Amino acid sequence: MRAMTVSLKPVSRTASAAASTAAKSSTRTSAHPPARVLGIDFGTSNSAMAWRQDGGLAQPLKLEGDALAMPTALFFNSEDHRTHFGRDAVAQYLAGTEGRLMRSLKSLLGSPLLLEKTEVNGQAISFQDIIATFLAELVARAQAQTGAAPTHVVLGRPVHFVDDDPERDALAQHMLLQAAHAAGLKHVSFQLEPLAAAFDYERRIDRESVVLVADIGGGTSDFTVVRLGPERVAAAARTGDDRAHDILATRGVHIGGTDFDQRLSLSHVMPLLGFRHTGPDGREVPSAVFFDLATWHLIHWRYSAKAIREAQALRTNYTDQTLHQRLMTVLQDRLAHAMANSVEQAKIACSQQADAAQRIDLGCLARDLSAPLSADALLQDLMPPLQRVVQCALDCAAQAGVKPDAIDALYLTGGSSALRPFQQALQQAFPGVPLVEGDLFGGVAAGLVYAAR
Ligand SMILES: Nc1ncnc2c1ncn2[C@@H]1O[C@H](COP(=O)(O)OP(=O)(O)OP(=O)(O)O)[C@@H](O)[C@H]1O
Ligand SMILES: [Mg+2]
Repeated sequence: MRAMTVSLKPVSRTASAAASTAAKSSTRTSAHPPARVLGIDFGTSNSAMAWRQDGGLAQPLKLEGDALAMPTALFFNSEDHRTHFGRDAVAQYLAGTEGRLMRSLKSLLGSPLLLEKTEVNGQAISFQDIIATFLAELVARAQAQTGAAPTHVVLGRPVHFVDDDPERDALAQHMLLQAAHAAGLKHVSFQLEPLAAAFDYERRIDRESVVLVADIGGGTSDFTVVRLGPERVAAAARTGDDRAHDILATRGVHIGGTDFDQRLSLSHVMPLLGFRHTGPDGREVPSAVFFDLATWHLIHWRYSAKAIREAQALRTNYTDQTLHQRLMTVLQDRLAHAMANSVEQAKIACSQQADAAQRIDLGCLARDLSAPLSADALLQDLMPPLQRVVQCALDCAAQAGVKPDAIDALYLTGGSSALRPFQQALQQAFPGVPLVEGDLFGGVAAGLVYAAR
């Protein structure tokens, strides 16, 4: 079944002009200085920012050249001793420059690992400090464009940083707040990412609607059922209302694009290193190393001398020594991030086309080595987690007390929402409801600045 998609009209000038006028008149009559709000969508995979001054329209900020989003990545270069960010960081790492690459840092929020120190360029630094370094760089880039410091920063947060553990979830937000303070940000508030996406979408609709917003990112899939409409925007701008009564339900699950990459890697790449390989004693090679090598933020733990010795000792567990040699090459030459990158690229290439056969390029490991990835295989590998994601959407609608067919639109945002198998599964769960493909990477940041009060 093909998903029914609707294209998006540009931001409604009437609604935003009304909001802007109302906000301007309220700033004129108040004694407060004009508000300059910076919205930061600190994502697991990508980050984006938006700026809003004096209640005007959200303005997306350029993060890297003309790009409005950039990978949440840092590279500590041990040749020039500088810290590189975003695409530049990933490119330096993949080009083989000596140094340390950090990605998926958001996945560590709420975990004790965040406070552990790691060595970069001869200095012991915690992962929390690394997040602070990244946030400080974002703010510096924002300020270079806007020419002014924000009076207020709104940081996005997923519905759950950590599933089923409210204490660790609260700790995760606290850790992010501490990192923001360490980055020099003073007035910081948080807003749920899917709600922010809803507020951005709201500027583009011209009638009252009940919308299910799906934000399918790198680390989490979040849903919100919310009442949206131009009158609500204007009323909130007049009264400063927080819109809490318009949120009918929010739900999230800790599944996203990095989990899809991990599954694809375990299915198609890790077997080439010995995952599920049977040894001479008839038992499979112990699998922990393969799970870590398929999980971006765990890879570097496998590069320590101790971990490499442990991997070496697995030799006797293999019948086919070629596979063990490959594993050792990956560890000794530190190839696992490059391989994870190849898996992600093949997934993206495969995600939109029903009949496209892609190959996961593993040329970094052995000449001409690659693994096939068909759209069918993608569907089969990703269906179990996608079903959990879609169930979360249904639960969200049920929690809101809304029948699936009473939803006016399914609004999609976040990079992984572009996955055709996801769109099809969601459409099946909400038959007949139009799917609206929003801004994959910038919608949350824009909505964050609208969410500031
Ligand atoms: N066209 C595409 N098809 C499928 N997946 C895609 C596509 N483009 C990007 N992705 C995936 O989207 C994810 C990144 O999405 P996004 O930038 O929205 O996440 P994020 O905001 O960093 O994560 P989160 O919101 O979970 O913290 C990555 O896993 C990436 O592989
Ligand atoms: Mg996101």
